[in-house]
Amino acid sequence: MFPIHRPRRLRQHPQLRRMVRETIITTNDLIYPLFAVPGESVAVEVKSMPGVYQLSVDKIVEEAKEVYDLGIPAIILFGIPESKDKDATGAWHDCGIVQKAATAVKEAVPDLIVIVDTCLCEYTDHGHCGYLEVGDLTGRVLNDPTLELLKKTAVSQAKAGADIIAPSGMMDGFVGAIREALDEAGFNDIPILSYAAKYSSSYYGPFRDAADSSPQFGDRRTYQMDPGNAREALKEVELDVQEGADMIMVKPALVYMDIIWRVKEMTNLPVAAYNVSGEYSMVKAASLNSWIDEEKVALETLTSFKRAGADLILTYHAKDAARWLAK
Ligand code: PBG
Ligand code: ZN
Repeated sequence: MFPIHRPRRLRQHPQLRRMVRETIITTNDLIYPLFAVPGESVAVEVKSMPGVYQLSVDKIVEEAKEVYDLGIPAIILFGIPESKDKDATGAWHDCGIVQKAATAVKEAVPDLIVIVDTCLCEYTDHGHCGYLEVGDLTGRVLNDPTLELLKKTAVSQAKAGADIIAPSGMMDGFVGAIREALDEAGFNDIPILSYAAKYSSSYYGPFRDAADSSPQFGDRRTYQMDPGNAREALKEVELDVQEGADMIMVKPALVYMDIIWRVKEMTNLPVAAYNVSGEYSMVKAASLNSWIDEEKVALETLTSFKRAGADLILTYHAKDAARWLAK
């Protein structure tokens, strides 16, 4: 008995495989994260993230030009401020590090889309994503006072020239609050990319080295989601859509591909996946040991995010991937 159905027929020639390929990752799909620090000519490699640097604004501008020349459409900016305090002043100050970086990049490379991360964790002295009762050592972030600070942050980022606001703190109502604040300030055309389903993940470890944003006590489990929950992610997405989100993010990406898929099924908005620091570092570490082929593993991973439903992928591999894809 020979089989009638032979799926292998369509795999016999590279051109044939190319013709029936369902998912193709392109440079258009990528967003490159950058970390801005005070100073000049500063480029400090993040130990746990080989190839990723904390950069002063002049270096960020150089990097932005390179990113643009590689055909990557957008960057997302994070900031490490001069000093941190309980009010996260560095987040919403008009002379804040991200504001400065956004202005400088838009001036030098106007056609590069500048997304800014809108959160407080890099700017609070305790490292939590929101406002705490003075003297609180448990890390119970106060939701509504945090919204006020996020509104100020988003408006000052928009004033600085940011093209897209990306709130990441997982506060209840943050999309609605920010939308209202942006509209009141005349920024009706600035879209919100909401980190709608963001899990309390151990894969963020290297990022917290890069952004100097580890919580000094407690953890983020009262605001970020429990890794065991999927339906709750759909609830979060539903609320953010109601509140006016323009795009939805799932984070992390690799071990949450089922969430990317389910979110894509339920919404017609563009879906972004954040290929987070720990996911990057695992690939880097293994490839530096020659245990895996970095290019092949990274491109397979990025293709898989897209197959799972991601329209946009935030990844520290973006520059390398753009070069690999151009070959
Ligand atoms: C926090 C924030 C995190 C990341 C970006 N913004 C996570 C966290 O520290 O809880 C993680 C990104 C990464 O790991 O690459 N608002
Ligand atoms: Zn945060």
